Amino acid sequence: MSIFALKGNIIYSESREKLCIVSNGYLVCEEGISKGVFEELPEKWKDIEVKDYGEQLIIPGLSDIHLHAPQYAFRGLGMDMELLEWLDTYTFPEESKYQDLEYAKKAYEIFVEDLKRNGTTRVCVFATIHEEATILLMDLLEQSGIKGYVGKVSMNRNSPAYLCEDTPKENVRNWLDVVKGRYRRIQPILTPRFTPSCTDDLMEDLAKLQKEYHLPLQSHLSENPSEVAWVQELEPESSCYGDAYDRLGAFGSNGKTVMAHCVYSGEEECELMKKRNVFIAHCPQSNTNLASGVAPAKKYIQQGFSIGLGSDIAGGASISILRAMADAIQASKLRWRLLDSSWEPLTFEEAFYMGTKGGGAFFGNVGSFEEGYEMDALVIDDEELRHPQDITVKDRLERMIYLSEQVRFTDIYVSGKII
Ligand code: GUN
Ligand code: FE
Repeated sequence: MSIFALKGNIIYSESREKLCIVSNGYLVCEEGISKGVFEELPEKWKDIEVKDYGEQLIIPGLSDIHLHAPQYAFRGLGMDMELLEWLDTYTFPEESKYQDLEYAKKAYEIFVEDLKRNGTTRVCVFATIHEEATILLMDLLEQSGIKGYVGKVSMNRNSPAYLCEDTPKENVRNWLDVVKGRYRRIQPILTPRFTPSCTDDLMEDLAKLQKEYHLPLQSHLSENPSEVAWVQELEPESSCYGDAYDRLGAFGSNGKTVMAHCVYSGEEECELMKKRNVFIAHCPQSNTNLASGVAPAKKYIQQGFSIGLGSDIAGGASISILRAMADAIQASKLRWRLLDSSWEPLTFEEAFYMGTKGGGAFFGNVGSFEEGYEMDALVIDDEELRHPQDITVKDRLERMIYLSEQVRFTDIYVSGKII
């Protein structure tokens, strides 16, 4: 039986308000699962191996519950347009390149390395429509030790011919057959790109597959005003964007579902999300870059929605979920000041919760160190952030999210194993 402890300054969320900090504490891990955090090592475990990380910080692994792997190559470029024009001008042409496996290999190797280097241990990723390149991405992620879901994208309308599938349902089934039983850490997720690029038939077929194969599903929701208006035009029978998915069974009624953005979700859509326990992937940097708006993350978190953070590469340019925590706080402050003073800015505790336990919940008991959680942990060296004064462990954590580019990860654990 494998049991050991990590020693260091341990920080994790118990709830959106409650941050637990144990200085010079012990995190005990048995068979990849946390046995809890202790100020002193309990007597019964006095002989187990202890890895002493000294003054370093130990936090749960980070979850990115919405990003596009094939867009990583053009991150930080083409930020001069809004969503629909941006998709047509930059995104679709770039995604067409993943037909070419050599290009895909080069690009996906860089993507996976950078993801790991930034402390992301769980992901919900969009690939492209291309089966072979999607499998290559799954292989690379599996080898990296990162856990999560990868989706072969489905699209069959309102897209350039080179990204429009003739037999999208058969394509998904084929892909599911090929990847079945192939991985331990990576699993498939159904991925209708968004309502404008999927016919009702396709959406309904994917929802049926979700039920049949017990698979999760990911898509986009209410990101941008022109997109929302377009969906209304395309789906006149639907009472809201969420209903356009729900009517076809693709809004949580057939299994675990995550929707990115939810910037313009009205009351009815919110009620539906709550009822179906749809996860919200909050993507603050993308929403700023594409001038989409600011999602009411404070409302979502206070009203008990399931919510985590997404980098939404390449709408977002940064792959760091620590950075996404700071972005979420900053965006919420502007929203509160300029748009709606009824919801106060996010607190630092809430942002940390979203990037760890909130998003982690999409993967099970993930994102905390409470007993029974999978032991995903980041050991963090923040020595480069020098200071003349004494500061607390909590201060070090707060500063680390604002200065994430100066943070180094000494070790990264996923389910109790160093990756
Ligand atoms: N909606 C449909 N596709 C996309 C995409 O690739 N990125 C973003 N941000 N929104 C989308
Ligand atoms: Fe996206």
